Amino acid sequence: MSKAVIIGTGSCVPSRSLSNEDLEKMVETSDKWITTRTGIKTRHISGPDEQNYQLASKAAKRALEMAEVDPADIGLIVVATLSPHMIMPSTACFVQAEIGADNAFAYDLNAACAGFTYALDLARHYVQSQPGMKVLVIGSETLSTRVDWQDRNTCVLFGDGAGAAVVTGTEEDRGIIGSKLHSDGNHWDLLYMDSPESQNADLVKEDWQGSLIRMNGGDIFKHAVRNMDEAVKALLDRHRFSIDDLDLLIPHQANIRILRKLQERLKLPDEKVFVNLHKYGNTSAASIPIALDEANRQGMLHKGDLVALCTFGGGLTWGSLLLRW
Ligand code: UT7
Repeated sequence: MSKAVIIGTGSCVPSRSLSNEDLEKMVETSDKWITTRTGIKTRHISGPDEQNYQLASKAAKRALEMAEVDPADIGLIVVATLSPHMIMPSTACFVQAEIGADNAFAYDLNAACAGFTYALDLARHYVQSQPGMKVLVIGSETLSTRVDWQDRNTCVLFGDGAGAAVVTGTEEDRGIIGSKLHSDGNHWDLLYMDSPESQNADLVKEDWQGSLIRMNGGDIFKHAVRNMDEAVKALLDRHRFSIDDLDLLIPHQANIRILRKLQERLKLPDEKVFVNLHKYGNTSAASIPIALDEANRQGMLHKGDLVALCTFGGGLTWGSLLLRW
């Protein structure tokens, strides 16, 4: 059976950045607290011409350019996002129009921070049944529009950006090997964002302040470390690899302490764990594709390398995906 392989990556972040020092002027916080508790130094905030679909389209164009694929040859566009441009139409439809992918069908997928990994796995299944198909998989967020800028527990964490990958079939012995994806809706209230016109009577009654991100950071932290660790180990086991076989882990960029604990549990050296969250903060569904693109463009991915993605987000949603570059 043919495999699904990534043939191009791209990313885009807004031009304006917001430093920890800037945040000191907005809420009761400090560069020291943010740096030591999260590892984040700065994040990017979108302006008027940097809406979700515009960032997504720029990332997509860069991925298409690298893949040397014409937009007209794209069969499917999936945008993973929890901050869509509109509820309807999908952000993917706006991207389709913006890049001129006239022959594609397009839709969004919401699996919070795990969205890109879920979407990549979806692309794998399409491509395995239609190997000639080219799929544009995008993770794109403008979380700055959904953050409560008075809540220091969350506003220091998140940032805007987009990343994209072009996926197609190959008969070579490389590409996506497998995935292990999970959800647990029992813990929905650890990290959520209500809809703008809330139908949720419980939330409206209690402490409803609009459709802004709410998080129980401590509990999310514990679930994230445990679940990503288990998902990576189980996936490697299933495909009869050991941790030493892994060339690079690209984890969801949420908090440096989560990443270091995960690294400790997996017994991976620093050079095998990709980290860029100091520059972008947590960009949710965009975090892994931005990291993947940076690793790719920095020459850290060599043909034949064994690469694992692992992710965790609201839902709860989490999982891992293994690929041979
Ligand atoms: O994308 C997936 C979802 N998100 C995540 O994975 C995030 C997971 N969680 C985290 O990254 C961490 O839990 C946080 C960074 C959110 C919080 O770090 P923490 O070490 O768990 O801090 P905490 O929530 O236990 O708070 C410790 C103290 C509290 O003060 P008191 O109650 O001890 O007086 C907070 O009010 O730190 C305070 N605090 C802050 N202080 C300065 C919380 N946010 C800030 C802040 N600046 N920005």
